[in-house]
Amino acid sequence: MDKELKQIQDLIIGASIQAQKDRHGAISPAFVGRVDWPAECTVGPGLEGAIACETEIGYVNGTQGALYYRGYRIYDLCAYANYEQVAYLLLKGKLPTPKQLTNFSRKLTENLFMPKVIRSLIGFDVEKMSPMASLNLATTVMKQYFDDSIMDQKKAQKNNSDDFIGTDEDSMGMETLPFGEQKAVYEFDAKKKKRKVDEDKEKETFSACCHLISGLATCAAAISRIRQGLMPLDPDKNLSFAANYLYMMTGKRPTAVEEKIMDVSLILHADHGMNASTFASIVVASTLSDLYASIGAGISALKGPLHGGANEQVLNMLDGIESPEAVAEWYKNATRKKEKIMGFGHRVYKTYDPRAKILGPLAHFMTDYAGPDAKKTLQIAKNLENEVVSTLGKSKGIYPNVDFYSGIVYKALGIPSEMFTPTFAVARCSGWTARVVEYLATNRIFRPRAIYTGDLDREYIPIEERRKQQ
Ligand code: SDX
Repeated sequence: MDKELKQIQDLIIGASIQAQKDRHGAISPAFVGRVDWPAECTVGPGLEGAIACETEIGYVNGTQGALYYRGYRIYDLCAYANYEQVAYLLLKGKLPTPKQLTNFSRKLTENLFMPKVIRSLIGFDVEKMSPMASLNLATTVMKQYFDDSIMDQKKAQKNNSDDFIGTDEDSMGMETLPFGEQKAVYEFDAKKKKRKVDEDKEKETFSACCHLISGLATCAAAISRIRQGLMPLDPDKNLSFAANYLYMMTGKRPTAVEEKIMDVSLILHADHGMNASTFASIVVASTLSDLYASIGAGISALKGPLHGGANEQVLNMLDGIESPEAVAEWYKNATRKKEKIMGFGHRVYKTYDPRAKILGPLAHFMTDYAGPDAKKTLQIAKNLENEVVSTLGKSKGIYPNVDFYSGIVYKALGIPSEMFTPTFAVARCSGWTARVVEYLATNRIFRPRAIYTGDLDREYIPIEERRKQQ
């Protein structure tokens, strides 16, 4: 193995060993297990603590800073696998055999070629839209070019009407108090049987997932080049997924080191429990809308600066700090103004995000190639990390998350900062599609409640009697 690739692998294995030490060994299996529906859980604003569904796809342990995809530790997948293997794992539940990997990689590569979609995209004012809005548009355009029978509403309604719950919960008084559930008789079969498998439909679903995973990569790269006034590039069928993404984006075939670092970053962003964009995707899917609309919803949610949009904000923030020596003063002002520090904090992790534990050293590794400006940015980031961890880390469990170092890595790979969040979406598309497919196997439309806090039975005053509103 090339010396530098070995160094990258050793860096990941080192982070893995340190994580095991910090965690004092393996995660107790007590944290996982089946749910007896209806489940009892304490729910806060933003559905904090709510259980949306069961899953076998990924597990995030926020107290011990652990992340698993289908039971594999993220460190092992980054050190030894590649993005194609991880996407296959998320979709199929097991790592591919060499033959399965060859076929799957070929399928992804074939799907990277989408001249009709790109030609349609060029027809829109993509340069005037936000890159994430353009990517969302691309999923709609893609749907037009893909014979989508994945979630054919007629078939789904016909095959599964006997599977719907026995009581249509909308027959309950809307916004009823919690005791309303006792009235509704949920005919959940606790060991709810998966719907009978329809081989053709499964194949079409898998093809649509591959179409979207590759399509987002090609479209994100094309959007970036169109915004720079450049023609989009056709993929190179001899390159890997990660290498093709960088090539179509930058116009340069990446070195082996750049390809490996892009690949690790795609793996790290592929899936992450029931985050806002994954939840948005399965909410749309639960209405039996189409897979493309579900992924479009995920893209829209990821766009926000509290979620996937943070990576671009982090680099803007770091670029706004004059020097490593100016960090302490900058941080004091920011906390005085109660500003949120981009790239820090997490709804689940109250310790280091394991992805930051790999992206941090990768950023360090990359800046050795990327010149003095990158070194200065990295030093500013390190100083800021120390400031936040020694204050908010201790008091509120606020530590670096996946977005804190990813921008430094992407910039060193030649990805424009406006394309950081679309790059996140490209990686996450395998997690989004895998979770949509998993959820639909035992689908139930999402319909939470809102607690009504307004007035009741107000007297209607006719307009002519209404004086100026007090
Ligand atoms: C991602 O869910 C996922 O898994 C997402 C993700 C994925 O892979 O899909 O991991 C990707 O979205 C990572 C997060 C990227 N976003 C940011 O870096 C933006 C900055 N971070 C914050 O906005 C915040 O930490 C969130 C949104 C990530 C989490 O917010 P929560 O759980 O709703 O926490 P909160 O806003 O209620 O904050 C709790 C306290 C507050 O202080 P008090 O009012 O209690 O005194 O912590 C403080 C907050 O002010 N706080 C921060 C902070 N994050 C939380 N203070 C300063 N800087 C921060 N970044």
